[in-house]
Amino acid sequence: MNHLARELISFAVRAPSGHNTQPWQFSVDRDIIRIYPDLSRHLSVVDPDNHALFISLGCALENLSIAAAHQGLSARTDYFPPDEPKECLRVRLCEGAQENVEALFRAIPARQSNRGIYDGRAINESDLERLLEANPCESVMVRSFRVGHPDIEPIIGFVREGNIAQFNEPAFVRELVSWIRFSRREASEQRDGLTAQALGFPAIPRWLGYWIMTKRVKPESEAARQEKAIRSASALLLFIVRDHDKRHWVDLGRSFERVALVATSLGIAHAHVNMPCEVEPIRGRLAAHLALNSGEQPLLLIRLGYTRKRPPPSPRRPIDQVIMTPGRAWD
Ligand SMILES: Cc1cc2nc3c(=O)[nH]c(=O)nc-3n(C[C@H](O)[C@H](O)[C@H](O)COP(=O)(O)O)c2cc1C
Repeated sequence: MNHLARELISFAVRAPSGHNTQPWQFSVDRDIIRIYPDLSRHLSVVDPDNHALFISLGCALENLSIAAAHQGLSARTDYFPPDEPKECLRVRLCEGAQENVEALFRAIPARQSNRGIYDGRAINESDLERLLEANPCESVMVRSFRVGHPDIEPIIGFVREGNIAQFNEPAFVRELVSWIRFSRREASEQRDGLTAQALGFPAIPRWLGYWIMTKRVKPESEAARQEKAIRSASALLLFIVRDHDKRHWVDLGRSFERVALVATSLGIAHAHVNMPCEVEPIRGRLAAHLALNSGEQPLLLIRLGYTRKRPPPSPRRPIDQVIMTPGRAWD
């Protein structure tokens, strides 16, 4: 196995993914790295059409491209080429990087979702502008909403509605719980999913976590907790695709990951408040509220702000588990 390719893949897998499912596989063939969706890791309740899965692949692709540029290589990518036997993103590494990516590259291992309460400090205009300009894809629009500005109130209302709808749905809670790693042992054995520490509570046995999540957590209190978290932030960023298909979902992942890396390099924390994008009827009302054109879909919502507290990094599976070698079964 090519040493450089392994190195690049080790940066790709630091990408964020819904519930930290890490829904990707890779193969290496000389100067070509293929990224495959791992549909065995899909989230059938929260992401029935797999758009979040393909967004996660886009995040991995962006990290891979930045890591390649750091090595002086450009990553020419074909999206879902029809001549491939299996659906994939095909990345060809070529000599000559297009841009200086040092700050972005350093941000890859430092970036993380930070679900804590932020300190309320405002992001200045020029940094917010830098974040919006970091979006590399014309197929994706990014809109910002400042905490404290009246425009944000309806968006906070949609987050609240989404949160309540999700926590009122037993299948959503069951799926979420199946990806929470309540104990340190679960986290270290599986190396995926949402650890107790990443969610902001102490490690506990699974039976207790299951009981708390299914019997004690109430939709209204969860919504109030998220609202408080948003009001402690400085801004929300909403990522909108111009069309609702796999290519655009991958592009959205690239855009989001770029913006998250620039934010990290500026010392700005981020966390998802994605609920209104995940509940389809609410997403439709959000799109209507924003007067989006038909086809345009708001698919990712994050809050941004400052905090000194950092949770430990979320686990990742060893790259040998995600690199397919010839002869190894695919499914
Ligand atoms: C498409 C997508 C959707 C996500 N949705 C949520 C979400 O609704 N709530 C949340 O707290 N985190 C969400 N996340 C963040 C992931 O849970 C997080 O990336 C993952 O646990 C890995 O942790 P890390 O970002 O700290 O590396 C999402 C991430 C992606 C890429």
